[in-house]
Amino acid sequence: AVNLKGRSFLTLMDFTPEEIRYMLDLAHDLKAKKRAGMEGTALKGKNIVLLFEKTSTRTRCAFEVACLDEGAHVTFLDSNSSQFGKKESVEDSAKVFGRFFDGIEYRGFKQSLVEDLAKYSGIPVWNGLTDVDHPTQILADLLTIEEHVAKPLNKVKVVFCGDVRNNMSYAWMYGCAKMGMHYVAYGPQVLLDEIDKGMLEKVNEVARKTGAKIELCSTAECLKGADVLYTDVWASMGEEAQIPEKVKMLTPYKVTEEMIEATGNEDVIFLHCLPSFHDFETVMAKSQKELGYDIREVTDEVFRSKYSKVFDEAENRMHTIKAVMVATIGR
Ligand code: CP
Ligand code: NVA
Repeated sequence: AVNLKGRSFLTLMDFTPEEIRYMLDLAHDLKAKKRAGMEGTALKGKNIVLLFEKTSTRTRCAFEVACLDEGAHVTFLDSNSSQFGKKESVEDSAKVFGRFFDGIEYRGFKQSLVEDLAKYSGIPVWNGLTDVDHPTQILADLLTIEEHVAKPLNKVKVVFCGDVRNNMSYAWMYGCAKMGMHYVAYGPQVLLDEIDKGMLEKVNEVARKTGAKIELCSTAECLKGADVLYTDVWASMGEEAQIPEKVKMLTPYKVTEEMIEATGNEDVIFLHCLPSFHDFETVMAKSQKELGYDIREVTDEVFRSKYSKVFDEAENRMHTIKAVMVATIGR
């Protein structure tokens, strides 16, 4: 039987397919329980700290609501309002957190930082996004696929369009490799070439065991037969200076109705981790002309279409994050 008590959740690469299956099943159960209005107590008496060095809406709210639903207490810290990352070493902060709390969520830059937090705190650490991974997002995405795609995960083809070398694309490779899925990174050759070769080797080693297929492609024929079209913003947090260059590179990979058609699959779904720039004129309070560029990674039509399951996906952040906490520190 699977037992994840005391474990950190730093990347899906640390987990077996059975362990990932266990967290997904738990998330389905916890979602049904919440829908039925049942109160949870699995985290009663637990104290959780949320550390954010990058901004967040969904991840922070998902952790907070999940904690409250199951009876835990949360403390939120960002780099402006704490000593973390500025006046004290990660090692010292981690040791202090280990004395106060039962679990730590961390969102920030380097993957080595979540690893150090886990090493020095001695308590479970959950990765809420780094420069190279976003594992809680993938659990939510897999849950959403299981709700909307009438196929087992190992028959599902995911095409990730756009910034194929970002944290979401990497996280997807880990998730697909582990769950035996077909993943296509669909983007310009220059960005495909930037994907870390050592990482790809590790992913392909897993894929050989699970029957997964990890493909890199710059041309549209890879859209055929996709069950999921996925995209993410073209410039991730911290990469805003690259916007003009990225717009040039990625415009051909914007998710459009033509791309939906090119899948040849009437039942294809569109997913996006959010936030999205699909209506960026509203976000920026300026017309496209005034802005001088079009940064939409997906058209507004696709975003609001029947194919789009992005708000179910956003809700599922909460159920899956709850499952990760319950699995690793629950009573
Ligand atoms: N998808 C996601 O992680 O959203 P936030 O940045 O709002 O947390
Ligand atoms: N790639 C995006 C994901 C946001 C959830 C970023 O890192 O900003």
